[in-house]
Amino acid sequence: MPDARSIACQILDAVLDDGKPLDTALAEHRAMSQLDPHDRAQTRRIVATVLRRLGEIDRRIADCLDRPLAGRHARVRNILRAGTAELMFLETPPHAAVDSAVRLAKSYRRGAFKGLVNAVLRRIGRESPAAAEDEESAGERNTPNWLLQRWREIYGEQTARAITDAHLNEAPLDITLSARADPAEWAGKLDAEILPGGSLRRRTGGRVSEFAGFDDGLWWVQDAAASLPAKMLRDDADAQVIDLCAAPGGKTMQLADRGPNVTAVDISNGRLAQLQENLARTGLPAEIVGADATQWRPADPVDAVLLDAPCTATGTIRRHPDIPRRRHEADITNATALQDRLLLAAVNMVRPGGTIIYAVCSLEPEEGTSRIDALLASGAPVTLDPMSRDDWPELDGLDPAAITPAGTLRTLPCHWSERGGMDGFFAARLIRN
Ligand SMILES: C[S@@+](CC[C@H](N)C(=O)[O-])C[C@H]1O[C@@H](n2cnc3c(N)ncnc32)[C@H](O)[C@@H]1O
Repeated sequence: MPDARSIACQILDAVLDDGKPLDTALAEHRAMSQLDPHDRAQTRRIVATVLRRLGEIDRRIADCLDRPLAGRHARVRNILRAGTAELMFLETPPHAAVDSAVRLAKSYRRGAFKGLVNAVLRRIGRESPAAAEDEESAGERNTPNWLLQRWREIYGEQTARAITDAHLNEAPLDITLSARADPAEWAGKLDAEILPGGSLRRRTGGRVSEFAGFDDGLWWVQDAAASLPAKMLRDDADAQVIDLCAAPGGKTMQLADRGPNVTAVDISNGRLAQLQENLARTGLPAEIVGADATQWRPADPVDAVLLDAPCTATGTIRRHPDIPRRRHEADITNATALQDRLLLAAVNMVRPGGTIIYAVCSLEPEEGTSRIDALLASGAPVTLDPMSRDDWPELDGLDPAAITPAGTLRTLPCHWSERGGMDGFFAARLIRN
């Protein structure tokens, strides 16, 4: 019978050693569905804690080893990491954490490492860690150096520290309400607070399909920051709008809920199936197109395109703690070529005077402001349409830094930290000349 700890170690192998996205590794592990809800939650907790705290955990393990473990012993490394996460952060009684780790070690290489696992974890359970000699915060210690250095350069020391500290905690669960629903009524039903932009925020997670009103389809899960790009489109109920790179459809539902005729385009059939399910549940209409958006064109130019481009997603690390462990600096430059092609395609889909919203859930300026600069410098027939707090009252609740001097949106995970943070998004509004 599988147990939470052995599954957690297998998922860590898949994410940390095979580079698989955490959500995929969790969804593909057959035994996850055989666990009872308590053990399933425990598996997720162990894996997420290892990923969020990997810097501190690896340092603690290294302090207890005479020489580093050979690279090929990934399984032993992950058994040690899971055990250390339980001892340092999850308040598991030491005997339980050590015994189960030793049991797991027995089935690897005929138990050759069980003595080592026992000795290391007993020591970690017994001794408090040596005081850190550097002045780094916990967030900084758990951030890969290349990311920390680039965020320090881009955002300054203090903000970089706040960003990394925000990544230590799981994100709250945010909900976007349909315009047909009454916010006060649904805040009560969903045990949520109403955020300044109108999203609802629950402190506790749980099974979304069991929340009040799931079948009524008057709300959907969407981070408060992710709901902002669609709100940057000016109201126009008759508009023809294309949601480019639309799946799984958070922004499609926002647009369809406001009334325009929406066409949702995405290249991934699997993700479009999720979008279809979301539209069916919420009863919102949209035409769905499975196509490569760099090639596809609408029959006639439309009033607006919302392009939520694929990116490194470094703005969503609170929700996806595997991202810093799987990404490399080269991924940032690799993402920009497709972003440029998608932006140009979006420009070509819009009528003169129409609007293009470009959004990415990345903290990296190469994927955000630099893409807009490059588009404008290339002579594309568009002009930046700057946003201000005056024409967008919902911005009132946002951190002042969330609107850049150029009039683009730049949210960070540390914004609204007292309320539980928000995803890091960049978005710009352009007008076709
Ligand atoms: C950031 S996600 C979109 C999230 C979505 N807008 C939402 O709010 O739920 C990026 C999407 O781009 C899609 N994508 C990537 N390359 C594409 C392409 N060449 N054409 C169309 N869609 C593409 C991916 O399948 C993915 O669903």
